[in-house]
Amino acid sequence: MTGHMDLFNKNNRKLTIGFGLTALALIAAAAYGFIRLNEISARVDVLSADIVEVTSDLSSTTVALKDYVNQNDANLSSSLNNNVNTIQRQLGSFQSQVGSISGTVTDLQKLATLDPELLKKYSKVYFLNENYVPRDLTEIPKDYQYTDNTQMLFVTQALPHLEKMIDDASSTGIKLYVYSAYRSFDDQKALKGKYSMVYGAGTANSFSADQGYSEHQLGTAVDLITPGLGGVLDGFDGTAAYQWLLQNAYKYGFVISYPKGNGYYEFEPWHWRFVGVQLATDLHNDGKYFYDVDQRTLDSYLVDIFN
Ligand code: DAL
Ligand code: ZN
Repeated sequence: MTGHMDLFNKNNRKLTIGFGLTALALIAAAAYGFIRLNEISARVDVLSADIVEVTSDLSSTTVALKDYVNQNDANLSSSLNNNVNTIQRQLGSFQSQVGSISGTVTDLQKLATLDPELLKKYSKVYFLNENYVPRDLTEIPKDYQYTDNTQMLFVTQALPHLEKMIDDASSTGIKLYVYSAYRSFDDQKALKGKYSMVYGAGTANSFSADQGYSEHQLGTAVDLITPGLGGVLDGFDGTAAYQWLLQNAYKYGFVISYPKGNGYYEFEPWHWRFVGVQLATDLHNDGKYFYDVDQRTLDSYLVDIFN
């Protein structure tokens, strides 16, 4: 028995060391990539500045040269004009290529700082493992919470969008409060376990995500409630608050994840996910829902998610 335990501990230690080394290698690779991106960005900036300088030098030299040649040799003047035009066209095209490389590098730099999970489809599609915790969470101020006896967290960069949405709703007489926000893997496990006990696994699966599959683990999903429902979410679809969200939430970057007839869970009028103003607006204008769009298209919005 002791022999087995020793072997187990040894293997476990090996695994831990292996995992640690892999994590270190990944962190080092990411840091190296980030430094390289910054170097490339600096070089592209220098190249851009050089092109502007060469273009300006060329312009002034050309003016002087054209004046001189015009006065002295008509044939030479026309051939000079052609050559200068060609060079200017080439420089222009070079400049726009450098501009587009510079834009790509800026996007890559931005993407390196963003959590790639933010626009993934969870809800029975992708899995967030138990170690996943959003990079940066902030407590939602108590004024926005339905109850102030729990700590509700939300992704820091998305929080101002949530606050603004609730403030603007309030200024039109619509009261919204956060009922649930970030839930860790373990929180979701406990919640799902409780629902499964009370309602049975089949029913619980129709309205509650398994741990790892909940958008709440991302820290960008909230359940919203409004006064007059007796402190429960049921009935939210019959409120003015829900109508206000349907018409306005997209302006703040929020979308409804589980509309009527969705293929994942029962209709959840209270559950809203932050996906960024651009994506939410496009979905609203196209009359589409987040889960209708393919993952590659959703990912293309990541770079601007907090704009
Ligand atoms: N109620 C939603 C589906 C969740 O548990 O994340
Ligand atoms: Zn929810």
